Amino acid sequence: MRISYVNGRFLPHSEASVHIEDRGYQFSDGVYEVMAVVNGAFLDGDWHLARLRYSLEQLEIAPPVAWTAFPILVRELLRRNKARDGMVYIQATRGVAKRDHAFPKNTRPSLVMTVVQPKWPSAAMMEKGVPIITAPDVRWGRRDIKSISLLPNILAKQAAARAGVREAWLVGEDGVVTEGSSTNAWIIDAKGKVVTHPANHRILGGITRLTLIQLAKEAGIPVVEKPFTVSDLRKASEAFLTSTTSLVLPVVVADGKKIGKGVVGPVTKKLQQLYADYISGL
Ligand code: PDD
Repeated sequence: MRISYVNGRFLPHSEASVHIEDRGYQFSDGVYEVMAVVNGAFLDGDWHLARLRYSLEQLEIAPPVAWTAFPILVRELLRRNKARDGMVYIQATRGVAKRDHAFPKNTRPSLVMTVVQPKWPSAAMMEKGVPIITAPDVRWGRRDIKSISLLPNILAKQAAARAGVREAWLVGEDGVVTEGSSTNAWIIDAKGKVVTHPANHRILGGITRLTLIQLAKEAGIPVVEKPFTVSDLRKASEAFLTSTTSLVLPVVVADGKKIGKGVVGPVTKKLQQLYADYISGL
């Protein structure tokens, strides 16, 4: 039976629910994390928990449980679900309170966790790459916080779905491609450099992004963390995207136009291999 965690209790998934005045439900006043589990091991678990902590701290939401308890609870959830592969979704909100915008006093933060089977990219997608579209980035100014307030991301992803592609890359008013609706965006630019947006307030600092920068550096492939524009994307020789659930996924077409030759390039292949080796070494 599928088991989920809600505020201190492990419950059958169908019975797992929160109060209608939870501030996550009413105000999107909360944060989340998505962590992959591969062969029973957490993929970059410490980094995900560190980011959860950062997101909560930025919003002044108290930790719903002691930080040392988190790994124990997540492991217990996996054990109860007999899950060795998949992903854990963690959501923490400011808690249940009478509706009033300002922070409530003496409210206990809520914590829910579920085990989910993600839509991993197919072998064909990993090998041949995927098309994407671009869409205006209309989000708020603190995208470094992994907030559950995802309306602009949802609308962009829906635009991608309508266009029959996997992802939408978001473009600021200055023409900068910040990131995807739920992924980080990368190009190999006209000079052969691997480029991705710096981890500042304009993007969510992806954990896959962080790990890949490290792996690339160790393999002698420097990554330049600087903004790139749609015009740079059009001139790029290769492109790819990263996330916990998309891994390193080649992008071969953007807005119906081929990137480079429109096939998966050598640098992307190499980075894909580095990441695959990293995961299999867990
Ligand atoms: N998405 N940018 C955004 C806006 C994201 O939502 C995500 C993650 C990423 C990649 O981060 P990471 O490498 O840590 O997964 C970048 C998760 C998977 C989601 O919303 O399902």
